[in-house]
Amino acid sequence: NVVENQLVGAKIMAGIIADIIKKKQAEGKMAVLGLATGSSPIKIYQELVRLHKEEGLSFKNVITFNLDEYYPMSPEDAQSYVYFMHKHLFNHIDILPENVNIPDGSLKIEDVSAFCNAYEDKIDEVGGIDIQVLGIGRSGHIGFNEPGSTVNSTTRLVKLDSITISDAIKDFGDEKLVPHRAITMGVGTILKAKKIVLAGWGKGKSAILKEMIEGPVSPDVPASFLQLHKDVSVYLDAPATTEF
Ligand code: GLP
Repeated sequence: NVVENQLVGAKIMAGIIADIIKKKQAEGKMAVLGLATGSSPIKIYQELVRLHKEEGLSFKNVITFNLDEYYPMSPEDAQSYVYFMHKHLFNHIDILPENVNIPDGSLKIEDVSAFCNAYEDKIDEVGGIDIQVLGIGRSGHIGFNEPGSTVNSTTRLVKLDSITISDAIKDFGDEKLVPHRAITMGVGTILKAKKIVLAGWGKGKSAILKEMIEGPVSPDVPASFLQLHKDVSVYLDAPATTEF
């Protein structure tokens, strides 16, 4: 889907998420959202906050699982995805704190693998992700599934691609401060979501978006694995289509 601009696209995606929350509410069930960070989803979260404040959309029946977190990373750090999610979404809605799940970048290294397995189990226990929000990295990553990630990969500790590290310098200020690892849901975890929406904004993402959509399905471009999913909607603004 090519949309007029980011705001229009973000409103459509937020509307899809809100409809799922309301449908589950009517059924007396929890809605399970898979959430992303980065600049791409910010306007989606702004719209969800607006729907909460102005239209009474409640998040009391919502459970969230974030895709990823840098490692090592303290949750209090302003660069952490925990901080990002609270700043852009959780501080402004009525979600219950116990229903928020974000990979823990402050774990001791020997505890990471058990945490990752438990993260997978928790997603399964609540019935799986109803809708997963994604952005895409210029390396072709979704979450932090960098080139080389396999289709069945699950939540795990990964090394970041050099493109990802250089793109993160703008957030951290200095290359030396960018963590070289992260905990991320796997490609397999993402593909298990019932529905997926991906936001692709701007000229800088156009080439990788073209590979994701039209290129071969390959671990060289982990986002290309989305071609295997039966319910993915990609929203692009006009600049993101320049390479197509
Ligand atoms: C980070 C996140 C990804 C995100 C990517 C793109 O690496 N882990 O989930 O898709 O950034 O970021 P942006 O949306 O700022 O371009």
